Amino acid sequence: MNKVLVTGGCGYIGSHTIVDLINNGFEVISIDNYINSSRASLKGIEKITGKKIKNYKIDLCNYNRVRKVFLENKDIVGIIHFAALKAVGESSEQPLRYFKNNFNSTLNMLEATKEFGIKNFIFSSSCTVYGNAKELPVTEETPFQRVESPYGLTKQAGEEMIEFFSKANPKINSILLRYFNPAGAHESALLGEAPNVALNLVPIITEVAIGKRKSITVFGDDYDTRDGSNIRDYIHVMDLANAHTKALEYLIKNNNKTNCEVYNLGIGEGASVLEVIQAFEKVSGKKLNYKIGPRRKGDVIAIYSNYKKAKRRLKWKPTRNIEDIMRTAWVWEQKRSK
Ligand code: WQD
Repeated sequence: MNKVLVTGGCGYIGSHTIVDLINNGFEVISIDNYINSSRASLKGIEKITGKKIKNYKIDLCNYNRVRKVFLENKDIVGIIHFAALKAVGESSEQPLRYFKNNFNSTLNMLEATKEFGIKNFIFSSSCTVYGNAKELPVTEETPFQRVESPYGLTKQAGEEMIEFFSKANPKINSILLRYFNPAGAHESALLGEAPNVALNLVPIITEVAIGKRKSITVFGDDYDTRDGSNIRDYIHVMDLANAHTKALEYLIKNNNKTNCEVYNLGIGEGASVLEVIQAFEKVSGKKLNYKIGPRRKGDVIAIYSNYKKAKRRLKWKPTRNIEDIMRTAWVWEQKRSK
């Protein structure tokens, strides 16, 4: 009984988490319709772990199709639900698509958890739920702020749906993991962030460095921060992956105090946009072509985590820093562009 169902298993964080789950003795199956990922991730996982992962290419919004996966796999010990549309800007242009996809897929996964008596459910959430937090670092008790995007709402409301569901189903144990800024790639460069269109800072930096893009614009250097640019808490994707394994092991051992717990996953310190660029230049030895531009709508000024609760309860801690992120992201970009 150590089979885990990962939704979005071919995506960036999902694929890296599958590697860590396998490294820790779990058997994994995936559901992914490749809407924002590719089956190439399965190849990468196989090359790294030697394990072939079965992926069900189905739409999580179709409950009959979801049911079939559970009818075929009676021994699922837990679900890790990553699958979601996650581009903040795009969500503001396509709110209905985001609400239908992200809410219906989560509702169907909760339905299946109940129908098939799955005991452990882990949900991929985001620091977006904190908005422009008044106090830093943010802890799990930091109150929600009104979100700036439909994407953020699907995370905030997704968390609350699972909380109510857990209250009504005491036998089901859930954990909500609030990611800060995931970045970097697996050390082997066989897996990494492979966005169709890079929207996040780190892949944009490596695309400029490799020549896929002419330059990068720093969205504002007149903020009230140490160097004027925005501050974020960048967490290496493999550290983030391991937090999921630790959370699942924690639930399987029934170490949880309540049946719906929340954890911040960051490294507990902030890096500014300019500091991320400097870290890249240091590890790559390349000068980056960037210019300062206007602020981006919806950006929070600064946010970084207090992750002590995950350290204490899940026995998890991050082991990589921003230079490890930039080094692995750069190696991955060079490999990917060959
Ligand atoms: C980081 C910083 C930009 C691009 C988002 C989501 C969050 C999570 C991670 C899903 C910001 C600056 C960026 C550029 C720049 N996603 N930047 N020039 O917005 O912090 O978080 O992705 O869970 O929910 O909100 O990440 O990488 O877009 O931006 O100056 O060309 O880099 O202004 O300060 P963000 P990001």
